[in-house]
Amino acid sequence: MCGIIGYLGKKDALPILEKGLERLDYRGYDSAGVSVLDGGSFNTVKKPGRMDNLKEALKQTSMPGSLGLGHTRWATHGEVNEVNAHPHWDCRQEIALVHNGIIENYRPLKEMLIKQGHVFVSETDTEVIAHLIESYYEGDLEQAVLKALPQLQGSYALMVASKKEPDKIIAARMLSPLILGIAKDGYYLASDATALVDEAALVIYLEDGEVAVIRKQGFEIKDFKGLIKSKTTSALSWSGPAVDKKGFAHFMLKEIYEQPEVIKKNIEIYTEKDTVDFSIDQRFFQDIDRITIVACGTAYHAGLLAEYMIEEIAGIPVTVDTSSEFRYRNFVPEAKTLFVCISQSGETADTLAGLRLAKEFGFKTLAMVNVENSTIAREADKVIYTNAGPEIGVASTKAYLSQIIVLQLLALKLTHLYRKQLPGFYYRYFTELKKIPLYLEKILAEAPVIESLAEELQKASNFLYLGRGINYPNALEGALKLKEISYIHAEGYAGGEMKHGPIALIDKELPVIAISPAGRVRDKMLSNMLEVKARQGKIVGIITEGDSDLMQACYKTIPVPFAEEHLSTMLVPLPLQLLAYYIAAKKGCDVDKPRNLAKSVTVE
Ligand code: F6R
Repeated sequence: MCGIIGYLGKKDALPILEKGLERLDYRGYDSAGVSVLDGGSFNTVKKPGRMDNLKEALKQTSMPGSLGLGHTRWATHGEVNEVNAHPHWDCRQEIALVHNGIIENYRPLKEMLIKQGHVFVSETDTEVIAHLIESYYEGDLEQAVLKALPQLQGSYALMVASKKEPDKIIAARMLSPLILGIAKDGYYLASDATALVDEAALVIYLEDGEVAVIRKQGFEIKDFKGLIKSKTTSALSWSGPAVDKKGFAHFMLKEIYEQPEVIKKNIEIYTEKDTVDFSIDQRFFQDIDRITIVACGTAYHAGLLAEYMIEEIAGIPVTVDTSSEFRYRNFVPEAKTLFVCISQSGETADTLAGLRLAKEFGFKTLAMVNVENSTIAREADKVIYTNAGPEIGVASTKAYLSQIIVLQLLALKLTHLYRKQLPGFYYRYFTELKKIPLYLEKILAEAPVIESLAEELQKASNFLYLGRGINYPNALEGALKLKEISYIHAEGYAGGEMKHGPIALIDKELPVIAISPAGRVRDKMLSNMLEVKARQGKIVGIITEGDSDLMQACYKTIPVPFAEEHLSTMLVPLPLQLLAYYIAAKKGCDVDKPRNLAKSVTVE
């Protein structure tokens, strides 16, 4: 979950590390640190807290040198303080190291190293790696790293430099992402591509069990035995402006506003004359008896939506699991299963583990991923990109919508293959689908109304989100959005389940966000809302514009344009995101970097 960056080249390393860490700090922002090698010695600055603290400290110091390592931390082992911040050191402060991941056997290694006389200063698991490398160091850093790696259990992307070999960085990967960027001025290493945008035109994605040996005059990729591997380079398709705020107060708000474009883009890329084309051989989608979807958090909610869509229109049974449950429960595999994993980052540790398990079961595997060439995208049999562009705000918004549209298209593709629909079905579906970007623009125009509602509701200490049928997963998502960025407790519930417990919570203080656009369960939702109203509940309805019965049941409403039930799932998230955003912003929360979270969950 941490962000790591390294540079070796012709330029001064520090500005490159600073820029890279600013772009990576959504991966973790408990502390940040840099080390730059200047001739024979390292200069290091580390600061707990946000990147701004490090930047302030760096203003007081000059750090020349063209080899540097940087780190932004999401704390796992040891509290947030300067000592536990990376880079970490060996005893003699000759070897500097940054690490993303978890060393699971750090305790026995630490005990062994202490017995050998090594002195530890931090509580981190990472520090054992520096001392272990030191214990093998006999004048050749690469050899020392190659001897240390087989002893490490767990996950790591790491970068190491030694002041005795000032022209070298060694980097290694096991279960945590690591990318080498190749530029005219030198070599860049980073835990994800966002840090390399505009710096390196070409990149190499390291695989598990690979080591990069970087020198100013060239690089080699090797396996853990030191044997050279040949690798292909890829071009980075994202560009600089996409990772800037473009005048919005927060990345999250900018990303919310990008959603009409995201929908348009996916329709453009994947549809042609009322048919869906993922550029995947038709045979891949044939001969499927069951679909198993695995994902985490927001992506899991998109998976739940897909269950409703696919079962209803394509008639194929679907099961959906959170990745962390899927990987440890005794799942009973069935032949002819299509495994679908959904992930914005394409690096989520549990989802990746789920994918690897699915491959062991012999399933066909399909990844729906936003970040191109991420580990999940590379390891699945087939990948469908969701084309949301870089999502920097930690709370997922446009990536969620991009997952929903692509899953809708998958449902249509499967319907075409597995079920006969009435004449005109596809024509009607696609005609309505193409209106969604316009409808989203209409909802965005109402943002000031949602903002003033947020002003009223921001003091509430609990929220309940209710939905039914295909919009039930959106209730879960609405609650997740609010709790993660505003720290207000919120629960998502199926409207029909209210009487089985949560109705006891209703009083005149509790805001109830009732999701009830036009559709089959609208009347059922109305009954649930009236039950809440009868108990003086404060209902905010997300309803289809003009639905006067529902308006009467509500304290306030946020209308959305009329859309067919399945398509309404793409309209509902927008007001929920805006409500959460404005509440969090008004409370003064750090919307883009909520406490305790990180964008890419690369550890279990
Ligand atoms: C919430 C959020 C997370 C992610 C989850 C999975 O706003 O962003 O719940 O959806 O951590 O991440 P990915 O999609 O990268 O696998």
